[in-house]
Order: sequence, then structure tokens, then C-alpha cells
Amino acid sequence: MKIAVLGGTGKFGGGLATRLAEAGHEVVVGSRKAEKAEEVAADYTEKLDGAEVKGASNAEAVESTDVAVLAVPPDYAAETARAVLDGYDGVVVTPVVSMSRVEGDFVYTPPDAGSSAEEIRAALDDGTPLAGAFHNLAAGKLADLSFEIDADVAVFGDDEAKETASELAEDVGARPLDVGGFGVAPQVESLTPLLINVGTKNGIKDAGVRFV
Ligand SMILES: NC(=O)c1ccc[n+]([C@@H]2O[C@H](COP(=O)([O-])OP(=O)(O)OC[C@H]3O[C@@H](n4cnc5c(N)ncnc54)[C@H](OP(=O)(O)O)[C@@H]3O)[C@@H](O)[C@H]2O)c1
Repeated sequence: MKIAVLGGTGKFGGGLATRLAEAGHEVVVGSRKAEKAEEVAADYTEKLDGAEVKGASNAEAVESTDVAVLAVPPDYAAETARAVLDGYDGVVVTPVVSMSRVEGDFVYTPPDAGSSAEEIRAALDDGTPLAGAFHNLAAGKLADLSFEIDADVAVFGDDEAKETASELAEDVGARPLDVGGFGVAPQVESLTPLLINVGTKNGIKDAGVRFV
């Protein structure tokens, strides 16, 4: 597939982009600045054995792609979707989680829409297929290509988009699990701050989930 990772210059998008390129996808990382994307993409390509990651502005990155992953911070995800994905005819994937710190612990702080996924959905054109995935996979694990990802990825949203997101989850080495529609978005998103708290308090680096 041809995949744009918007905000792919960041911690999470970088790991996802390199893993998807390694799996054989044509990957373009997007940035607010084309030059930054090109430089970062060249660094990612160096980490790969033969595969290539390209870089472009967010708007150019999505051109003729099958999938766009919104790997930007929660406060800017909906505005990025509005700015870049107007008229987009591919599938959109959100890994976006909104959280803050209360007395040292991470807590889920969803936007007024109830979840980041719902906020992004409202920002997209009607009918653009959207799925939530990868919320509970830590960037550190994704970025270390020698690490075997033995974790589950909860996938929710529109059916067509869920199929695509599930394929991508398999391609990074995770097990995709269909968990429902947009109503479950807060459940999936809110698992991420819990995982961080579990990790920091119990010395588990980059904690993930496995349903058994
Ligand atoms: N980090 C994790 O372990 C993890 C795990 C699961 C899910 N997630 C989710 O994945 C998303 C990305 O996380 P991250 O840790 O990679 O974030 P990040 O490194 O803080 O930011 C990612 C990229 O977003 C772009 N960005 C920053 N401010 C922006 C703005 N105002 N408007 C548009 N783009 C902006 C930047 O790219 P440019 O400067 O190049 O434009 C940046 O490199 C978040 O929504 C997060 O909740 C993260």
C-alpha cells in the first residue's frame, strides 16, 4: 500500500513509518515542513535494509496514497485532518490519545467530542473511512526494529478502514483485534495512560497489551 504518516517525523510516526516500509509498503512521512520531512526520511531509510522512506509536506505526503495515519499530537489532530485530508479518498487511521498528568499520574482527558477519534471523524469529509488503531503500542517498541512486537492492537471504527488498519497492524508484527465501532474509542484510547502508569510504577518499559 502507499501510506502517508502525517507527523511521521515524531516519536510514534517514525517507528510506524520505518516498520511499514520494512514490511514492503511505500511510505511517505509528512511534516509541516517539507525539508524536515525529507531529512528525517533519509535518516529512516538509513536504518532500513534496502527499503526507502520518502518525506514531503503533510499536504503532498497524502497525494495518491491509500492510507493516511494521523500521527500528530491530540490537540492538533482534528485541525491537521481538516487542513490536509479535505477531499481525501483513502482510509484514515488514528492512533491519537489525549492525556494529561494529575499528581504525577497520566489520566485520559478526551476532547469535548468524547474521544479523539470522534473529534477527528467530525473533521473529515462525510464518508471518509476512519479506523482507530495502534493507541496502545509504545513508540519505543515500534522504533526498535530488532524488537519483536508481540502485542495486540485494538482496532475500531468503520468496517473498510478496520480491515486496512488490521493489515497494517499485522505488518508491524502485532495481532489486530476488532473491538467495535466508534462507541468504544474512549475505552481503547484510555488504555494508553493506564499502560504508561503501569510501566513507570512497575519498571515495565514500553508496556503494551495482550488479551489472553
Ligand atoms: N509516543 C507514543 O508512544 C504513542 C503511542 C501511541 C499513540 N501515540 C499517539 O501518536 C500521536 C503522535 O505521538 P508522538 O509521540 O509521535 O508525538 P510528537 O512526537 O510530539 O509529535 C509528532 C509530530 O507531530 C507534528 N506536530 C507537532 N505539533 C504540531 C502541530 N501544532 N500541528 C501539526 N503537527 C504537529 C510534528 O511534526 P512536524 O514538526 O514535522 O510537523 C511532530 O514530529 C499522538 O496523537 C499520540 O497520542 C503516541
